[in-house]
Amino acid sequence: MQLSRRHFLQAALAAGAFPLLAKGTGGANRKINIGVIGYGRIAHTMDVPGVQRFTDRCVITTVCDCDARRAAYGKKVIEERYAKQGIRQTVRAYGDYRDLLADGAIDAVLICLPDHQHALVAADSLLAGKHIFLQKPFAQTIQEGRVIANLATLKRRVVQVGAWQRSLPQFRRVVQLVRNGRIGRIARVEVGLGCDKAGGCRTPEPVPPTFDYDVWCGPTDPTAPYNWTRCHNQDLRRIGDRPGWIQLAPYGWGMITNWGAHHLDIAAWGLNRNPTSVSGTCAWMDLSGTRLWNVHTTYDLHYDCGGTDVHVCDKFQMGVKFVGEKGDWLWCTRGAVKVTPSDPDPKEAPGRLGALAASRNALLADLPPDAIADDALAHGGERFRSTSDHFLNWLEAIAREDPQYTVCDAEGAHRSTSFCLLGRMCMERGRGKEGGATLAWDPAREVTGDAEADKLLAPLARGDYDLRRSLAGTAYAYEKMIKPIR
Ligand SMILES: NC(=O)c1ccc[n+]([C@@H]2O[C@H](COP(=O)([O-])OP(=O)(O)OC[C@H]3O[C@@H](n4cnc5c(N)ncnc54)[C@H](O)[C@@H]3O)[C@@H](O)[C@H]2O)c1
Repeated sequence: MQLSRRHFLQAALAAGAFPLLAKGTGGANRKINIGVIGYGRIAHTMDVPGVQRFTDRCVITTVCDCDARRAAYGKKVIEERYAKQGIRQTVRAYGDYRDLLADGAIDAVLICLPDHQHALVAADSLLAGKHIFLQKPFAQTIQEGRVIANLATLKRRVVQVGAWQRSLPQFRRVVQLVRNGRIGRIARVEVGLGCDKAGGCRTPEPVPPTFDYDVWCGPTDPTAPYNWTRCHNQDLRRIGDRPGWIQLAPYGWGMITNWGAHHLDIAAWGLNRNPTSVSGTCAWMDLSGTRLWNVHTTYDLHYDCGGTDVHVCDKFQMGVKFVGEKGDWLWCTRGAVKVTPSDPDPKEAPGRLGALAASRNALLADLPPDAIADDALAHGGERFRSTSDHFLNWLEAIAREDPQYTVCDAEGAHRSTSFCLLGRMCMERGRGKEGGATLAWDPAREVTGDAEADKLLAPLARGDYDLRRSLAGTAYAYEKMIKPIR
């Protein structure tokens, strides 16, 4: 008999199936045991290779995917990579992530799932006592994000979010300079995120027998006709391709959360302030013919952050420009770094800025060492730690059992993802309205005060795929968890 999601958690918690991890989880004598949840493009190209390099610190013991062929492929790839490093490691493959979470020997999980699956699986993992590496965007709605951030705090688990630009030197450099007043008060921040293109196909196809489409849909409507462009490519040789769902609501919200979780994250990290309003407009994808993908295309949004205008527009080069009140500016972007085959061409076009730039070179001069000490800039619950490797930073935080050691912890990620999600809410409220919409934001209560917009704060839910029901039998009731606790 299949256990429902809710009964699984309640039974497991009651039976003590998730003991708190022993002291010294990743200590010198013990490797951190890792499970991988979702073996798709990012697990295959980034997250699994990212941790598999650190064979002295961790071992991947388990992989799970609701697409059985991808789970089997992940097992094969991981075992072969270990074999090449002279390590004999058998990897278990599961279809149901609850089997993986029930394994008390697993200390930590890599969550590499589509965005609509993040909150439920992250919450279940934290409730099961696992440390998590959660891909960006942190959550699909603001209340989901608040619940995960609170759970991480209350369960004292280590969270690293996949906003890995925080571990690249040019982004950290610019944020350090901005936070230390190098260009004075910040008048505005310009953020460019690029644009998605219409596509996909609505024509129904049979669901492959090896793919559990109902589980893939999770909290969304499972009667949505299957076509591979809704989910991911079934050809394993194309596992590194950009999946269709990433430009299809309600699985993804488009560039505002996709690349917003990178560049708006840097803007939020540098400003270290919450927005108090957002306004603006966007265009939506062309759904003519059999086209399926439906997220926004062009966009022009303004956030007010305590007198600083954060301007997010598709006309800007992809990256982040902080502009001081006297006109000086500091700029950062990825430059030549290309992490997935679908990333924009890294070749710098004429007139485009490189990875790090400033209105005057002197602005990039190093800060005095005491100004950039690790903790000198800790502020409002956000950390500012020097990291050379995003995955190593996560493994080190687990070994130290220090949830505040990660450069992109749950609270910081929740705050920056809230920028993205507020932008998405503004786009939705502006649908069909000339000039778009304006929303106020109360960062203390995490509400807009606009009844229709506030409905978009709530998690996606279907049957047992429901954060409220997941939390119902635990000490962490949903109604308590959607309020900031820090
Ligand atoms: N950090 C980055 O630079 C970066 C870049 C791109 C994407 N991402 C993020 O990485 C995440 C994964 O994206 P992707 O491109 O790998 O997607 P993908 O569709 O290629 O892979 C996701 C995998 O999860 C599986 N899955 C879905 N629901 C499941 C469930 N309930 N249980 C088990 N398996 C399930 C799918 O079958 C699929 O194989 C997304 O959140 C995306 O936004 C991060």
